[in-house]
Parts: sequence; structure tokens; C-alpha cells
Amino acid sequence: MKAVEVIGGYPLNGEIKIQGSKNGILPVLAASILQNGVCVLHNCPDIRDVRETLEILRELGVKCEMRKHTITIDTTGMQNMAIEQEKTEKMRSSLLFLGALLGRFGEAVLGRAGGCNIGKRPADIHMNAFQKMGALIEEQENFIAAKGRLKGADITLRMPSVGATENIMIAAAKAEGVTVIYNAAREPEIIELAAFLKQMGAEIYGEGSTTIIISGVKELHGVEYTNIPDRIVAGTYLLGAVATRGKIRLHQVNHEHLGAVKVVLRQMGAIIQEMPCGIYVNGENAYRPIEKVKTEPYPGFPTDLQSILLSTLAVAEGESMLYENIFENRYLTVAELNKMGADILVDDNKLRISGVDSLYGCPVEGQELRGFAALVVAGLVADGRTRIENKGYAERGYENIVRDFMGLGAKII
Ligand code: EPU
Repeated sequence: MKAVEVIGGYPLNGEIKIQGSKNGILPVLAASILQNGVCVLHNCPDIRDVRETLEILRELGVKCEMRKHTITIDTTGMQNMAIEQEKTEKMRSSLLFLGALLGRFGEAVLGRAGGCNIGKRPADIHMNAFQKMGALIEEQENFIAAKGRLKGADITLRMPSVGATENIMIAAAKAEGVTVIYNAAREPEIIELAAFLKQMGAEIYGEGSTTIIISGVKELHGVEYTNIPDRIVAGTYLLGAVATRGKIRLHQVNHEHLGAVKVVLRQMGAIIQEMPCGIYVNGENAYRPIEKVKTEPYPGFPTDLQSILLSTLAVAEGESMLYENIFENRYLTVAELNKMGADILVDDNKLRISGVDSLYGCPVEGQELRGFAALVVAGLVADGRTRIENKGYAERGYENIVRDFMGLGAKII
């Protein structure tokens, strides 16, 4: 995989537009096969996970194409209900095709889902839910087969899994009867998936709260839909601005999706101004550490920004404590940051970050999608040059992280 070289010491300064949301569009792409017709989806990010998902759709016999940021999907006559492991193992979100195929055909065979190396990521919550809805599930080492015309059920999630909430919503949209999801995830991406399904004709209530009610309908129809902005990509650049004590303005952002991030940035001393479709941050005086920050399901601080926050806190003036509560192994970037002079200690899920005066550039390796972005942010504040291997990870979720950071004044080769 390719590498980038970041030349440190330049505060971020400037303005850019934020891409459409990865975690918003992936469930929408899966859910689009519930209808037999055409969907036109706008503001889709041109990233690897989206392109891989289009490959899955093609394997299923769906006609799809992406022009600029608009994807057209024609599911008329699709017949295939099996997806090879070679395709599913590239992304965790391939699991959402289980609910979608069950919803369309009452049958699905999927290779095992893959995804970033951030924890065990079992699928028990998904499987238990489908079984409760009447599916027969056979799990083998390399594939999952599911069969059954689904019926509505009361389902209580043992934790508010984003993917399981989405998978159940997708499957329940065309199931017979009413499904109620208790302890559901409340992420903005859940609200958006509900909006998309409702536009197609589904009956859904309560999305955004912990109880979601889906009353199954017989048919859904094609629609034109616009994807939400990517709150994690926006958060990446906001944290980069604060780490470098810079000033940036981001357009095409829904700042309401960044509530917990704004709280942390303000605690560090940043000035934030919200605009109708954007956000401005001034990090010139943002050097205070954070006594305690925990990653939590939305509306808490997102786990996807944990490693990037580490880079920012690594150069704060004092000691911060960060607790990772979502994934049990999302610490791969710590060793790389410590190579650059950061002082971060991991004890179980507790991270103690003792702020240092400066980091120094050295060769480091991106270990996963958000970890790569965290190392770019660290490279921006480091003295000298930081060579970061494995840019391919970033390409899963950032349209062009180098272009964006350079648009904000970063020096990257
Ligand atoms: N979990 C289980 N069993 C399950 C499902 C989840 O134990 O059946 C556990 C997971 O192992 C994890 C926790 O529950 O410890 C939360 O997982 P969740 O299901 O909520 O995550 P996900 O749906 O797999 C989505 C995002 C992730 C994001 C998480 C948490 C997509 C495509 N992915 O994953 O995004 O970190 O929610 O917010 O929406 C990223 O974009 O970098 C990324 C990893």
C-alpha cells in the first residue's frame, strides 16, 4: 500500500467541503435491494467501501453505476441471493445484506464479514434477532446461510449495536407484522436509514430514540435520496485544527451531529461557531487536557474519533484520560504515536495521555482506517517529516484525505 509524508509545523488554516457519510450510505445501499426498481442516491462518497459495496450489488445481479457523487441502482429482475466471501470479507457492513436479502427473497447466503482490525466484532446480536423473527440460520466457518419469511417480533438488543439496529430495520421493513427494537442505536445514520426506508414506503416510528417500531409492508418503491454529511470526516479535520492550533471552516456539515465532539473541543479551549450547513473552529488557544472522556454510543463521543483525539491530546498541556467503551482492541495506533514521542499508556480500556511539548516525525504505519487519519494529524504537529505507510486504509473511508488536509494548508507529499 502507498505511503504519505507529512511535513509538520504548519497550523491548519482554510476551508473545505465535507464528503457524504460512509456509514450513512452503506446501509442505504444494502436497503435499496428491498425494492424492485430504481433508486438514485446523491452525495455518495467516492471511497473504497462504497465501490466494494457496488461490487456486491453487481454480484447480486443489480445494475449500478456511480457518476460523480450520484449512484443509480436498478434492482429490476435481480435474482441472486448469495455473496462470495471474497467480497464480504472486505467490510463489516456486508453483513447488512443478510437483512436486505432476507427482506427481498426470504433467503441469503453470505461469506463472513470482515472489516477493520479493532476488536472481535461478533454478529450474535444480528443472528439472535433474525432467529427471533423466524429465520433458520446456519453458521459455518466461512459463510452464513439464512432462510425464512420473516415475522415481526419484539427484540431487545443486549447493547445498542449500530449494525444490528440497521439490519433489523432493513429486514423488518417488509416482514409480516410489527417489529419493535428495544435498546436500539440512536446514531444519525439510523435516523437517515429510517428516512430512506420511509421514503420507499416503509412504516417506521421512533428512530432516534431507544425504541424503534417497524410495521412491515408488502412492497417498497424506488426513490431519489440525498445522503448526509460525514460527521467522522468532519470531526477528523476539527481535531486536526485543534491539534495544530489552527483555524478552519468546514462546509456541508451538520454540526448537530457533532455535539459530543464540540463539547470536547470547547473543553480544550477551542472557539466554535455553528453555521446553518457548516462549522468554524479556532484552536489557537486549545491546549487544555481533558480530565475524562469516554467513547459511547451516540450521542456520546464517537469511538471512530478516539485515535484522532489521542493525537490531539498528545500535545495538550497536561494529563488526559480517555476510556474506550465500544471496541476492545482499538488501540493499535498508540504504539505508533508513542514512536513519535507521545506519552500514552493503555491499561485495559483506559488510556492515560500525558501531554508532551512536541512530537517528532519518524516512519510509522497506519493500522486501520481512523488510525491512519490519527497519524496524519500527529504528523501535522510533529517536528520534521512523518512517513506514514498504508494509505489504503484511509481510502476505505476518506475520499481524499491528502487533498482535504492540503486544502486546509497542510504540507503532505
Ligand atoms: N457487537 C457484538 N455483537 C454484535 C454486534 C456488535 O458484540 O452482533 C459489539 C461489537 O463487537 C462492538 C460493539 O458491539 O464492540 C458496537 O458495534 P456496532 O455493531 O455498534 O458497530 P458496527 O455496526 O459494526 C458501526 C460503524 C463503525 C463504528 C461503530 C460504532 C458502519 C459501517 N460502521 O459499526 O464505523 O465504529 O458502528 O459506532 O456503520 C468506522 O467508520 O471507522 C467504523 C468502524
